[in-house]
Order: sequence, then structure tokens, then C-alpha cells
Amino acid sequence: MAAERAVEFVEDGMTVGLGTGSTAYWAIQKLGERVRQGLKIRAIGTSEQTESMARELGIPLLDFATVSALDVAIDGADEVAKCFVLTKGGGGALLREKLVASAASRFIVIVDSTKIVNRLGHFPMPVEVVPFAWELTARRVEASGCRSTRRSQHDGTPFITDNGNYILDCDFGEIADPHKTHAYLKALPGVVETGFFIDMVSVVVESDGQRVDLHYPENR
Ligand code: A5P
Repeated sequence: MAAERAVEFVEDGMTVGLGTGSTAYWAIQKLGERVRQGLKIRAIGTSEQTESMARELGIPLLDFATVSALDVAIDGADEVAKCFVLTKGGGGALLREKLVASAASRFIVIVDSTKIVNRLGHFPMPVEVVPFAWELTARRVEASGCRSTRRSQHDGTPFITDNGNYILDCDFGEIADPHKTHAYLKALPGVVETGFFIDMVSVVVESDGQRVDLHYPENR
């Protein structure tokens, strides 16, 4: 329901960032349906998986070689704090998701109600790191007050992002100061990006399965 409501923000002629994950999936499906009905958009995916889904649905794709800004991006989140700071990256696509969201005039976040929290931290914070010296980077990450686990696939081999990096899932417990934690992590050599999305959201579209609510940050 949230995904379908979010797609209503997309109009003819727009450039659209397509998110990754099981919620974004429904938004992409709905956009594919509207494209088949004649909607003219061009899109950029936030992962290889999303790009291939868009291709299959006949959604025309573009890339940042030819554009610097997008009209809108629609994506899910793992947690949404009431201050509109997000945790993203449960699917490992946080770097491309952040690049795409940062280029969008409007960043629309679609979630079910269970993901709205007072403070971030129940969901481990994903941090993308380069494979070289990742153990050293992990120790430095942990010095900020978390326990980290390098993400693995089902067969035990490391999970590799679309950018060729590792993900550290970092358990901080409740995160009192997302700005400070993000700034510390981001300054570490070897950290490519964190799953904190700060001051980026234009609107959160939330559904509990019965109704849809839109939440706007005050400054947007
Ligand atoms: C992908 O890397 C993530 O940021 C997803 O957007 C996030 O994990 C939400 O995914 P679901 O909609 O599958 O919960």
C-alpha cells in the first residue's frame, strides 16, 4: 500500500531513482505497470538487481553519465527514527541508494509501520568497507561503541556489494547521536559509506496494512 501510494508522486517526463528491497519491489512493479499504460519516465536503479527488474518491466534506464539530478527517488528503509534519520542497507545497496537519494529533488521512503522507531539501533547499522584491511577497519569501527559482524552469504562466503566491498553489520544498541556516530565512521579510512541517511527524506509513506500515512519533516 505504501509503495503504491508513493508511485502516485511520479509524473510523466520524470527521472526516477528506483530503490532496492522487498518494499521497493512493489513500487517498481507498479511503475512498470504504469509504463505499460503509457507513463514516460527514465530511471536509475540502486542495485544490479533493481536495474535488471526495471529492464524486464520495460522501464527505460539512464545513468549518471548523462544526468546530475533526478526528480524523485523511491526506496525502502530498515528503520525510520521519528527525527527522520534512517537506517538503510539491509539489502547491501546502501552506497548506490545514498548516491541516488542525494541526487533526487524528492526522496520518498516507503515502510511498514513496524519500521518506525523512537531511536535507531534495533536494526544493526550496515557499514560498507573496502576488503583491504577490513579487520583493521572493523576494530576502528568497534571503537565507536558497537560490535560488528562481517556480513556473509548462506554458504559462509563474504557478502560482496555491487561495488565490490564488504558490509559490517554494527550493533550499537540504541543510537543516541546518529550525526556523531555517522561522522566518526565516515572519517575512518576504509569506510566507504554508512547506512545512516540523515537530512535526506522528503516524505515517509507508512502503511500498517489498513491505512497509509504520509509524514513530512518540518524543513521539507
Ligand atoms: C537495501 O540495501 C536496503 O536499504 C533496503 O532499502 C532496506 O533494507 C529495506 O528493505 P525491505 O523493504 O526489504 O525491508
